[in-house]
Formats: sequence, C-alpha cells, structure tokens
Amino acid sequence: MQRLDSHTALFGVIGDPVRHSKSPIMLNRAFGETGVNGAYAAFHVKPEQLAQAIAGVRGLGFKGLNVTIPHKIEVMAHLDEISEGAKAAGAVNTIVNDGGRLIGYNTDGIGYVRSLKEEAEPDLAGKTIVVLGAGGASRGILWALAQEGPKAILLANRTEAKAFEVASAFSPDYRISAIPWEELQAACASADVVINTTSVGMSPNVDAVPLDPSWLKPGSVASDLIYNPLKTAFLRQAEQLGCRIHGGLGMFIYQGAYAFEYWTGQPAPVAAMREAVMASFN
Ligand code: ATR
Repeated sequence: MQRLDSHTALFGVIGDPVRHSKSPIMLNRAFGETGVNGAYAAFHVKPEQLAQAIAGVRGLGFKGLNVTIPHKIEVMAHLDEISEGAKAAGAVNTIVNDGGRLIGYNTDGIGYVRSLKEEAEPDLAGKTIVVLGAGGASRGILWALAQEGPKAILLANRTEAKAFEVASAFSPDYRISAIPWEELQAACASADVVINTTSVGMSPNVDAVPLDPSWLKPGSVASDLIYNPLKTAFLRQAEQLGCRIHGGLGMFIYQGAYAFEYWTGQPAPVAAMREAVMASFN
C-alpha cells in the first residue's frame, strides 16, 4: 500500500460482521494501482452505533463509505440524498461525501449488470430474463436489469406473494412481472438469462440447486449471485447442459469498481481489483 500522509482521502466499509470483507483488499489495490492518495479500512459498526458512525463520516470528512449488512436499509435515514437506483433497490451500499452532503447510491445492481454484460451477455435489450427469488438481493438487481431494456423480466419466488409484491412496486414501464412458481419451468424454457438470487447452493449447502437446470435452454445464460462457492451446483449442472454460465464474484468486483469511480471520477482498475480478490482466496 502506498504511503499515507496528511492529504490521504479516507474511505471504508461499515458492517456487522465485517471482518470477512474483501473490500479493503480490493479498494486499496485500486488506489495503489491508479496512484490515488486514498486509504480504505473495515469498521465494525453495530446497529446502535450507526448514527454515530455516519456522524463520524461527516465530522472527519471521510470521502466515501461502503455499507453492508445489516445497515443497507437503516443508513438511508441518515443521508442527505438517495439516488434513484438506491430508492428502487430500497437499499444503499455506497455513500459519496460531496462537499459535506452525503449521497446514497446502490452499486450492487448496476455492478451485477455490468459484470453480466462483461462476462456473459453483452446485450440484454429485447431479452427475456427470469429472476428467481424476491428478497433484498433480487430487489437490488431488478431496477438495474430494467435499465437495459429487456423484453420481459419474470420474477418467481417460493413464497409467491412476495414476488407479486416486489414486482408491483415497479411501474409497468419496467416490464417486471411476477409469475406463479408452477410457471417457472415454462418461463425458463423460453428465457435468455436465468438468474438465481436465492441463497440456495451457498456454502455449506453446495449441492443444492434452486431449480432444475435442465429446464434452461442450451445456449442461454445461467447466472448466480452466489460467489461462495465460485461455481455453484446450479452453474456446474447448467454448464454441462450447454448453458453459458456467470458466477457472483463479478458482482462484488463491479460494485466496488462503481464505488471507486463515484469517489474518484476515474475508471476503476478492474483487472487488478479482481486479481487482489482472487489472491485473497488462496
Ligand atoms: P437476500 O438479501 O440474500 O435476498 P432474503 O431477503 O432473506 O436474502 O431473501 C432470500 C430469498 O431466497 C427469498 O426469495 C427466499 O424465498 P422466500 O421468500 O420464499 O423465503 C429465497 N430462498 C431461501 N431459501 C430458499 C429455498 N430453500 N428454496 C427457495 N427459495 C429460497
């Protein structure tokens, strides 16, 4: 890491827990790579300390902050402005300190979409997308997916009412509609991209699949937000059946890349950031 001095701009991530976070490794590498005089640390902030932590950001003049579980929703009440994407996601994961005004963004959804386009499907316009799951992670990506102009986004969830509730929060222009669980197989058969946002398949339950991968069309994209393991059982089986696959690590890398870009106004050194994260797994 580069030398810190009295000009160093400060950044960090707040969460509870936070010691597992790979964001410091990734963002400090980005600062080093680009020569930005910045430093990034992880702060363990309990829910009852959230207001003080944000007051500290203002008082100490931190330039930016990432926000992770469990603060992504509650933090919004402490900010001066919330971006459209963060409002649609109902959560903030990135704060920019713009001359004393704290602005909340959500880079998870746009980070996911940028990774999907870079790594699996460059053009989502006119495509049919199935999204499985209707929790926080799903809500986080729906707005960003809709910005790409797909033909339809079909949302299915084990608890169907939740899918209908989430879909109805978006205007019809977004072409997001909920489907009953029993229509999922038919929807997958005609989908270009099928995305798992549920926790099914996450370590330690690495053999579980959220749906039968044989429902997917060969050549279509199977995408999973999970990155532990890097290749879930859903992706492994879909790949064997001739699908293109896309894992969740890119979402993490690109949400950090967008945060870096919002904070510095410079393009993020994505390859170096990915390398730093991959090296930390070994
Ligand atoms: P996250 O923020 O990761 O999205 P969440 O808000 O708790 O977490 O949402 C978890 C999602 O995974 C939900 O869509 C949940 O479905 P339900 O609404 O029916 O609970 C889904 N999920 C979790 N375990 C599941 C399972 N075994 N089968 C199908 N869906 C599951």
